[in-house]
Amino acid sequence: MDLGFESLRDRHINMTVTKFRKFKKSDKNTIINLWKTCKLIVPWNDPLKDINRKLLIKDGLFIVGESKNKVIASAMAGYDGHRGYIYYLAVLPEFQKQGIGSLILSIVEKKLLEMGCPKINLFVRNTNIKIKNFYKINKYEMQDSLVYGKRLIKDD
Ligand SMILES: CC(C)(COP(=O)(O)OP(=O)(O)OC[C@H]1O[C@@H](n2cnc3c(N)ncnc32)[C@H](O)[C@@H]1OP(=O)(O)O)[C@@H](O)C(=O)NCCC(=O)NCCS
Repeated sequence: MDLGFESLRDRHINMTVTKFRKFKKSDKNTIINLWKTCKLIVPWNDPLKDINRKLLIKDGLFIVGESKNKVIASAMAGYDGHRGYIYYLAVLPEFQKQGIGSLILSIVEKKLLEMGCPKINLFVRNTNIKIKNFYKINKYEMQDSLVYGKRLIKDD
């Protein structure tokens, strides 16, 4: 599967990353553990339900990164015809700060662009301020908007 590596060849990446691929059902437990380790799981979201719902969409926008057959990174995205969203962006702590997060982000951006997606929005929790620089260097700007939400299905 071509996930866009040709255009990313000149990026600074950790050469131990051998593969980015679509999420497989057998990744479920590993991915949930990755998200737990990266503190992305909150009580009001059930990660397994989130994964199962995503698999029903069948848009190919759930990507994992592997190093030596071990899952070390993930990014889940969506496109609704107006904008793209990125969720569950995670890199195992021991692989962080080596360019892998920026690389998987670029891959998802490329896939969204190929679908005709004109812009991306994403949520950063107020408690995750240290990650601001990551998005800044990847050319994301803070938006002058309030984010509203309404829960339709309770997972907790
Ligand atoms: C966000 C995340 C995916 C970034 O992955 P990564 O592989 O470390 O990203 P990169 O190596 O491409 O990072 C590039 C830059 O982002 C910034 N950055 C990344 N992680 C950071 C951290 N923990 N603290 C502060 N800055 C960080 C740094 O400026 C870094 O550049 P530098 O290494 O030259 O200082 C990773 O830190 C992670 O999984 N965090 C926990 C989960 C999370 O918060 N996800 C985002 C939800 S909105």
